[in-house]
Amino acid sequence: MASRKRRFRPSTTNWSDYLRRFHRDRPGITERLLDNAVTPGIGNPYEWLVMACESDPGKVVDLGCGSAPIRPLLVEPETYVGVDVSRSELSIAQAEGRGPFLEADVMALPLSDMSVDIVVSSMSVMLFDPIDSALAEIARVLRPGGRFVSIRPVTFPVDITDVRVGLELFLGLRSMPALPQWLGRSRFARIQAAAGLRVIDDQALRFSHPLYSAEDARLIVDSLYLPTVPVSRREAAVRRLTRLAGPGRDVPVSIRRTVSIKV
Ligand SMILES: C[S@@+](CC[C@H](N)C(=O)[O-])C[C@H]1O[C@@H](n2cnc3c(N)ncnc32)[C@H](O)[C@@H]1O
Repeated sequence: MASRKRRFRPSTTNWSDYLRRFHRDRPGITERLLDNAVTPGIGNPYEWLVMACESDPGKVVDLGCGSAPIRPLLVEPETYVGVDVSRSELSIAQAEGRGPFLEADVMALPLSDMSVDIVVSSMSVMLFDPIDSALAEIARVLRPGGRFVSIRPVTFPVDITDVRVGLELFLGLRSMPALPQWLGRSRFARIQAAAGLRVIDDQALRFSHPLYSAEDARLIVDSLYLPTVPVSRREAAVRRLTRLAGPGRDVPVSIRRTVSIKV
């Protein structure tokens, strides 16, 4: 009897190992993607995040800062500290002169109680697991009345014209991009409330990233967390997106921004 080919299907993902390898091998990839994702009248998601910070931002901490794209957008903060567990990401940020940084885990911030005016976190909160411990740390370091501004990827809003891109991506990958956790709007607000953070503003926007070339297609696929997808399927997704590429084509990058106050 012919032996059946075994398929590699891990039942669970060791996210902390996967994320460590992902950011070691592709430092700065989130910035390369989001820098070119725009929405008219707003700019890119980093610019949108900074719009929710006060004009005189005081002492700012950037959690899961990666290559620290937020740093150059902050207008004269009193102090800035970027925090990340990935040395490769921090090296890129350092090379851009964006410091200072702490190589640390958000779960145990080496910062004093109530010492921070604004905590920002771009595209990282969904990686902080358990999220309630991370939010407790954020609440601990924020002064009363201090602000927590975060952006994270979401599935909506999208346009009807995005269906084709989504379908081609799915047919190539034969799987959906994954995250350690999806933080729905009300769940995120609830866990923040338990930590002493009150949501004061919450909005989602569709940004569009160009899909003009094979390079764009590769960047889009490479920037996704795909812990269980083999290289052959990633390559299939790149080929499918490349076939769609051309002048005026784009892919959606949907982002939710949540602004909270430490009560
Ligand atoms: C998707 S990247 C976002 C980078 C950057 N903020 C940006 O928007 O371009 C997520 C970052 O969070 C970091 N990260 C994940 N879990 C973390 C944790 N528990 N403590 C500190 N950093 C963490 C990763 O190393 C990575 O650099």
